[in-house]
Amino acid sequence: MKVLVVGGGGREHALAWKIAQSPRVTHVFVAPGNAGTAADADLENIDVTDADELVAFAKREGVGLTVVGPEAPLAAGIVDAFTEARLRIFGPTRAAAQLESSKDFAKAFMVRHGIPTAAYRTFTDAREAHAYIDAHGAPLVVKADGLASGKGVVVAMTSADAHAAVDAMLDAGAFGAAGARVVVEDFIEGEEASFIVMADGRHALPLASSQDHKRLADGDRGPNTGGMGAYSPAPVVTPTMHARIMREVIVPTIEGMAEEGTPYRGFLYAGVMIDATGALRVLEFNCRLGDPETQPIMVRLRSDLVVLIEHALAGTLDRVDAEWDRRSAMTVVLAAAGYPEAPRRGDAIEGLERVNRDTHPDVTVFHAGTAKDAEGVKVAGGRVLGVTALGESLRQAQRAAYAAIASIRYDGMQYRSDIGHRALARRGGAS
Ligand code: GLY
Repeated sequence: MKVLVVGGGGREHALAWKIAQSPRVTHVFVAPGNAGTAADADLENIDVTDADELVAFAKREGVGLTVVGPEAPLAAGIVDAFTEARLRIFGPTRAAAQLESSKDFAKAFMVRHGIPTAAYRTFTDAREAHAYIDAHGAPLVVKADGLASGKGVVVAMTSADAHAAVDAMLDAGAFGAAGARVVVEDFIEGEEASFIVMADGRHALPLASSQDHKRLADGDRGPNTGGMGAYSPAPVVTPTMHARIMREVIVPTIEGMAEEGTPYRGFLYAGVMIDATGALRVLEFNCRLGDPETQPIMVRLRSDLVVLIEHALAGTLDRVDAEWDRRSAMTVVLAAAGYPEAPRRGDAIEGLERVNRDTHPDVTVFHAGTAKDAEGVKVAGGRVLGVTALGESLRQAQRAAYAAIASIRYDGMQYRSDIGHRALARRGGAS
């Protein structure tokens, strides 16, 4: 079977890498891919991103399955377009993707279905939003309702910051239509984890837990990013917490979406906050896999991902389990100079050939913002590479990832040196 993976980041490289390992798969196209997917003999990049053109390509090439990585095409209805053309695709419909594409939809849905989340109000009128902030006081979280490339969430520790965020979104139109409606919600403290499942409309199969590092700098300081590193499993998701997340969040979400006539099929990502008392609340839903979380998750997945997706498309996820490598995995993201505000492109990347199966047997380097020209591989986006390692312990995975990074360089390369710090502190620095 020919498979098409839509997207070009680290998540899609990891997905395509895993899908290509399936004995059921003869060819994997990646649209548009990156320099890493271009270099992989098992993968073929295609320079197509428009949904109608992807439908035409899939028909012409006899693609048997399409898997969508990013939220934007899902929110724009790529699954609806493929389904209308009688092509198999794994992902939520445009209506179901509202769990991510409208923060107001997601919050109201959670309230309707008794799913734990922070208290909130939604505003389109700036004066009303400012009055609410004055009455409520900080800290607050101000969110653009729509998709804003990961930049539409402001954690406002002061009322002044909350007012400024409302001004930027509702008055200055910082995010265009995506910010024409804002959600203002209570700030909640705790430890965040990424809980991702595959859903078939009625059942959910949990993937291994993971944890991201959203801030740019060590010690969780600096600006928010798309994610500077991740590991799996996340020790904060104990077996008891895992059962609670399934019972209190995932099951009511899948059942609620089905009851409301928008059954959810696809990867579903719940960003959950677990506080010191064990209280659990959903921070956000994403209608896709996380990035970089996908990278450590895929290297730990022992089951055939294509078989799992086929169960999801057949509505039989309740009949299958996912098998996991018992080792830990960690991804350290290497970012471009100027990331996240203004990533610089064009810097030449050196040393990729020094990280290979012989020199670093437990390491896989997934590409994200890379492109190749006549001179070699260059930086072409904010997050550039995801250096991903397996280890008997998280500490060993960390050591292997950072040892591989020592071989790679480009001007302005930025990365955190403390990926895994929460889990390692929890385990008392277990080696
Ligand atoms: N790593 C966070 C996300 O994918 O949304």
